[in-house]
Amino acid sequence: MKNFLSFLFIFLIINGIQAQKFNNLALTPPMGWNSWNYFQCKGINEKVIKEIADAMVSSGMKDAGYEYIVIDDCWQVARDENGNIVADSVKFPSGIKVLADYIHSKGLKFGIYSDAGTHTCAGRPGSRGYQYQDAKQYAKLGVDYLKYDWCYNEGQKAEAAYKTMRDALYAAGRPIVFSICEWGTNKPWEWAPSIGHLWRTTGDIYHCWDCGSSKTSGGIVKILDLQEGLEKYAGPGHWNDPDMLEVGNGKLTEAENRAHFSLWCMLAAPLMAGNDLRDMDKQTRKILTNKEVIAIDQDEWGIQGKVIKKAGLIHIWEKDLHDGKAVCFFNRADKEQTITIPWKELGIEGNYDIRDLWHHKNSGNTLKGPLAEYTIGPHDVVVLKLKRSM
Ligand code: GLA
Repeated sequence: MKNFLSFLFIFLIINGIQAQKFNNLALTPPMGWNSWNYFQCKGINEKVIKEIADAMVSSGMKDAGYEYIVIDDCWQVARDENGNIVADSVKFPSGIKVLADYIHSKGLKFGIYSDAGTHTCAGRPGSRGYQYQDAKQYAKLGVDYLKYDWCYNEGQKAEAAYKTMRDALYAAGRPIVFSICEWGTNKPWEWAPSIGHLWRTTGDIYHCWDCGSSKTSGGIVKILDLQEGLEKYAGPGHWNDPDMLEVGNGKLTEAENRAHFSLWCMLAAPLMAGNDLRDMDKQTRKILTNKEVIAIDQDEWGIQGKVIKKAGLIHIWEKDLHDGKAVCFFNRADKEQTITIPWKELGIEGNYDIRDLWHHKNSGNTLKGPLAEYTIGPHDVVVLKLKRSM
């Protein structure tokens, strides 16, 4: 009995220490890049991922706060006779460890992808039955971030399945951000905050403004609208994930890219770029590296913003910040619109200095200019920081 109690005591202490390592991760929404939205299965290989890491640094993305380089589905092809996962040796001839080391040598972090089922969504080997072995292997490879999908789950209970992988990661001992990807199917916001650092709230995002016939996948506006009501579940270390960014992909206009990025920041969403960083136009780079807008996303309070008023097709979003508020006027209409509204009508009664975060200009004070008056282009935004004034 005494032996058992000592064992239990030591087990609880070790477990507590491991949990602590994980609890200190993702205190602000994770920022990085993921291969899926642009490269999907076919486009990834070691050369591309290395060049993306280089571009992350040379484009100013790293300096703006992006740190994780995550290889999504299709890096793995089989298991060896010992059950170890085997990487695609044609696409990754130097092996995953060498790639991880390269990414680390750039001052960046490395992420990888697996699935709670028998297979990944692209039909590669999943982690079901191999969770502890895979977690150990990821730790050895130098993985810092794991995205864990839900295809071929064969009727498992999501909460239990994700808990198993979390415990496997704890046991492997390397602090790894755990990104839950079960598409919001089992209301992960209700159970995931103590299991992962972020959880997808919807199906897949597409690189179009308003498209998609499925209920839970689609363009920017569809995914955005599905976030309503989830704000209370997010906070430091546990984030709603409205999926990776499509900024710079498909046929989104400059205004749409700006609105998409701004609204993800208002949502305190993880900012995982999904475009080809090696080949970004100036506008895309400017949007992804706007430090003033990123600061809204990364505010230390970690409060997810929400719509506070709908004035026709102009939706007004607010996000509380440690030193004030962010307000975003979002024009959903296909044509330019002007709004004139007293700050008081938005519940903003205090003394705030106003700064326009896309024009990088101070633009008055809420008491001195009691009316908010803005003209906004189609599918565009005006994003303001309201800084508490003395
Ligand atoms: C699912 C996920 C995507 C991506 C693909 C990979 O669809 O939701 O984000 O990881 O699988 O196959």
